[in-house]
Amino acid sequence: FKEKTLAMIKPDGVEGKYVDAIKEIILDSGFSITQEIERQLDDSTVKSFYAEHASKSFFSNLVQYMTSGPVRIMVIEKENAIADWRALIGPTDAKKAKVTHPDSVRALCGLNSERNCVHGSDSPQSAAREISFFFQKSQSGDDLTFH
Ligand code: CMP
Repeated sequence: FKEKTLAMIKPDGVEGKYVDAIKEIILDSGFSITQEIERQLDDSTVKSFYAEHASKSFFSNLVQYMTSGPVRIMVIEKENAIADWRALIGPTDAKKAKVTHPDSVRALCGLNSERNCVHGSDSPQSAAREISFFFQKSQSGDDLTFH
């Protein structure tokens, strides 16, 4: 069965002009993009999106980074989308990704463990939460509309 996950290109990816290359990787890997929006996130939106990391030492840097420019947010769909997108983006630390996963998206456009250029939901629970965080279902059906 088809599964949806949230894919986000972070400010460094958008600014570095990686959007088209990343979308090509997504489509070439068999995903369809069912929703897409570019958005400048503010502090409270990032804090709420990353609430599970609120106590981490890197949290304030993360908020600063994620508000530093627009992000491209997409809902992508295919069988096994959640695990497959995570595998495609590679490890959190982009520096490591360049060594251990040279074909990954983070090896392509990330810099380090913070500036890792893309996000992917890590479980069905977070995919559901993160998709509804940015998009909402229309009243008529399962069409997603911008939140
Ligand atoms: P992401 O997969 O979007 O989920 C949480 C984000 O926090 C992560 O990508 C990084 O951008 C950031 N992050 C995770 N670990 C660290 C770390 N050790 N130092 C700085 N930033 C981090």
